[in-house]
Amino acid sequence: MAIFSTSKLVTIERHFAEEEDLHPEATGEFSRLLRDLTLAIRMIARDVRRAGLNDVLGLTDMHNVHGEQVKKLDDYANDIIFRAMDHGGHLCVMASEESQGLIPIPDHYHKGKYVLVFDPLDGSSNIDVNVTIGTIFSIYRRLEPNATTDGTLDDVLQPGYKQVAAGYASYGSSTNLVYTSGHGVDVFTFDQTIGEFLLTNEKVRIPNKGTYYSINEGNYHKWDKNLQQYVDYLKNDYPDKPAYSLRYIGTAVADVHRTLYYGGIFMYPADRAYPNGKLRLMYELNPLSMLIEQAGGRSTNGSDRILDLTPTSIHERAPVFLGSPDDVLEAEMFLQGKHPTQL
Ligand code: AHG
Ligand code: MN
Ligand code: MN
Repeated sequence: MAIFSTSKLVTIERHFAEEEDLHPEATGEFSRLLRDLTLAIRMIARDVRRAGLNDVLGLTDMHNVHGEQVKKLDDYANDIIFRAMDHGGHLCVMASEESQGLIPIPDHYHKGKYVLVFDPLDGSSNIDVNVTIGTIFSIYRRLEPNATTDGTLDDVLQPGYKQVAAGYASYGSSTNLVYTSGHGVDVFTFDQTIGEFLLTNEKVRIPNKGTYYSINEGNYHKWDKNLQQYVDYLKNDYPDKPAYSLRYIGTAVADVHRTLYYGGIFMYPADRAYPNGKLRLMYELNPLSMLIEQAGGRSTNGSDRILDLTPTSIHERAPVFLGSPDDVLEAEMFLQGKHPTQL
């Protein structure tokens, strides 16, 4: 599949406007939210591009709620998203991987009907070495649509299937914005010369089966036996299955982006060090799972659909197996000890 697969010239704002036209009841609030979010992403992209030139590499002296040392760019991206989103009147509350509690909308601004949840900078360990990093976001409707008060914890702790929209920006060889509002997955590419995201792939579909697997295999000895058997199986040749190739970038956005186009499976399982896996349900797994499902893929924690999990705290983690439906189903068989090669 050619990566540039659409002939229409459409900017992301035009695309958002066209989607809004499908909803005669729309007030324009959602489009304005997306416009502000796109501005934040463009600003983060600009600073990622200048990371070696500006003073934005390296660590701050802070630790985030997960005990990880905060990189300057994490902190910067968190701040940019807040400053772009706090005053638009469309949000009632936000939550970020880099902020301990809920992020309220300041008192003097109008409280709107949406909730924004985000991972401002995904792939922190790759920032300083010029490897692809990203930004991930989820949008929910508040539970009481007509309320004008601050959003609450319950407004944030909604299961992923309630997402109104989700997406990520991938700051790689170009900047992509991958987006869904539940009508398939569209990919936009940033044209720096005109300052616009242009639609480059419409309604992307993930292959039913791939030939890549993606997992931090350095943790092999911390996995349970069924998972070890699955990965051993992937690496071996069988009459009807060639050995899979390993691809692992260590930025979930980048590993999922490749999986979206080429198929295969991306995993961050539970292991002895991380009994619930490492990735965060709200900031990473829900938005990435919505995108993968919208492209025809599958995303589970090994048995249950990620989007059906009800979060009980904003920073909770979950194991994940996502990608081509046939590959994820096969992984689930192994995890349950039911694959023919295990019997
Ligand atoms: P973040 O930079 O937002 O903390 O996320 C890092 C995550 C994710 O992007 C990636 O898939 C994973 O950490 C890599 O973890 P390992 O280094 O344990 O493989
Ligand atoms: Mn992340
Ligand atoms: Mn992050």
